[in-house]
Amino acid sequence: MHLPDYRDNENSDAIVLAITSGKGGVGKTNIAANLSVCMAAANQRVILMDADLGLGNLDVLMNIQSRYNLSHVVSGERSFEEITQIGPNGVEVLCGGSGIETLANLGKFQRQRLLEEMQALEDRSDLILIDTGAGIHSTVIAFCLAADHTLVVTTPEPTAITDAYAMIKVLAAKNYTGRISLLVNMASSLMEGKKVYRQIADVASRFLNMGVYEAGVLCRDENLVQAVRRRELVVQAFPKANISKALAAISNRLTKRANIRTGDDGFFRKVANWFF
Ligand SMILES: Nc1ncnc2c1ncn2[C@@H]1O[C@H](COP(=O)(O)OP(=O)(O)OP(=O)(O)O)[C@@H](O)[C@H]1O
Ligand SMILES: [Mg+2]
Repeated sequence: MHLPDYRDNENSDAIVLAITSGKGGVGKTNIAANLSVCMAAANQRVILMDADLGLGNLDVLMNIQSRYNLSHVVSGERSFEEITQIGPNGVEVLCGGSGIETLANLGKFQRQRLLEEMQALEDRSDLILIDTGAGIHSTVIAFCLAADHTLVVTTPEPTAITDAYAMIKVLAAKNYTGRISLLVNMASSLMEGKKVYRQIADVASRFLNMGVYEAGVLCRDENLVQAVRRRELVVQAFPKANISKALAAISNRLTKRANIRTGDDGFFRKVANWFF
């Protein structure tokens, strides 16, 4: 199938990819950060947003000092421009903060101002990657439901598999219209990872009538651990490592797939609809 080149459509809103999981600690933040840098290397204008309320650690991973974060935008103290940090390959990083929860308590005027600023973000980027944090909480679900594409991350651990399925089940129950892809991380082999994918995709198809795309498999890799210790991203610190090549391939696949928009409404408008 031929997919149109993204740049054919210069004026369209950004495509939004939410990166989520049922269980915590499966590698979402590492995957989001590395994919964002791979996508930016492929000439995409990328915004990486940390929407993990409370536990966000994108700044640590990307070695970014962020005095201000999304909570300061929500409270009106700072603008998006002022909190934007430029990461590797020009990725624009928006660090999180617990203030996003207070979105629901904002007055009409503040909310409107915020939505307008968010719309400007969509206008100036091709791809917005959102690290949603783990679990089937309402905020995580709101971000996924509003995204064009949701990447569910799991590991081969039975608890992670069950929780990934639970997440897919919630999205199906809410009639999610976007695409769901599954990424199996920390596999001990490609074969093991593919088996996990098939297991989840089969059950989702049979019981939820939901198609789940295969994003790919990442094996457990000491290079990633080393890179984290050095506060570098593995795709930059060890570009020739197997995991870096696999991340580049997944980035490529997702960028092509993400080309397909699933709704007409702006992303943040949709998030707002789910919140309010
Ligand atoms: N492929 C991998 N190989 C080896 N270690 C990995 C791999 N992927 C992730 N890790 C390690 O797993 C740990 C958790 O990763 P990460 O913080 O990205 O997970 P998370 O899903 O974002 O967690 P949380 O739910 O707390 O936000 C980190 O210490 C990271 O170094
Ligand atoms: Mg995380």
